[in-house]
Amino acid sequence: MLGLYIHIPFCVKKCKYCDFNSYKIVEAKKERFLSDLKKEMSLYKNKDRKINSIFFGGGTPSILKNEEIKMIMEEIENNFYIDKDAEISMECNPGTLNEDKLRFMKSIGINRLSIGLQAVQEHLLNFIGRIHTYEQFEKNYIQARNVGFENINIDLMYNLPNQTLENWKETLEKVVDLNPEHISAYSLILEEGTKLYDMYMNEEFEMGDEDLDIEMYEYAINYLKSKGYNQYEISNYAKDGYECKHNILYWKCKNYIGLGPGASGYINNIRYNNERSLD
Ligand SMILES: C[S@@+](CC[C@H](N)C(=O)[O-])C[C@H]1O[C@@H](n2cnc3c(N)ncnc32)[C@H](O)[C@@H]1O
Ligand code: SF4
Repeated sequence: MLGLYIHIPFCVKKCKYCDFNSYKIVEAKKERFLSDLKKEMSLYKNKDRKINSIFFGGGTPSILKNEEIKMIMEEIENNFYIDKDAEISMECNPGTLNEDKLRFMKSIGINRLSIGLQAVQEHLLNFIGRIHTYEQFEKNYIQARNVGFENINIDLMYNLPNQTLENWKETLEKVVDLNPEHISAYSLILEEGTKLYDMYMNEEFEMGDEDLDIEMYEYAINYLKSKGYNQYEISNYAKDGYECKHNILYWKCKNYIGLGPGASGYINNIRYNNERSLD
């Protein structure tokens, strides 16, 4: 079993809470990144070991143009042997998707999407600096179904500033109504160096207490279970058979190659981290 993680370090704009290695997109930097990614991939060229899982993470991989995604997929095929049943996931943001792009992604072999929603309430999405509304998300989700994606994850966050238990319940209900195969639900981590952290230090909001955090977590476990989603990891819930292959590979300490700035890999008992800086 061998996985491939490809880190796309660009976003339309930085969300206030986010500490991932991602930067507001600049065309020149993206071009340099794509050409370096090609070189980096060739260093790992190996046609003997089957790749069972490919994960495009970010950042916002769906920010790339169709021809850029195609170039990366072709490079993967040039350098590796991809199992015919490989799970090929891409993280996507509402606001960077449309039906054409989704159709194109499907046509070149991407077979699982992970779409970031976080919450359904407008005031929460605004407060944390998301670029999209709930309606935009829902439109993109329906478009993804229409073009034939049969394996979709939705990312959610809880214990957000000013988020009530009722807000969280409403988010879970609306998401379950859409019937995705997989749901990720993360408790907010207030990361030093983020805009949200500075706002907290300036006393612009109060964090929900730990009791609320636990109540939201336990509610998610029980509610999602009652709707057919099993918790198979701390923050991940899936219908039977839809556990994310890439997550499982991490949990079972299987080998994976990490490509791109800040990506981690684990090969033959050696764990490594790429340099984070784009330069
Ligand atoms: C790699 S990130 C981003 C994927 C995609 N760019 C997006 O925003 O939808 C995957 C998920 O991690 C979660 N996340 C990011 N920062 C977090 C934080 N500080 N605390 C908790 N969850 C976080 C969000 O749910 C996010 O969708
Ligand atoms: S949460 Fe996603 S879209 Fe927002 S800054 Fe982080 S990686 Fe980019």
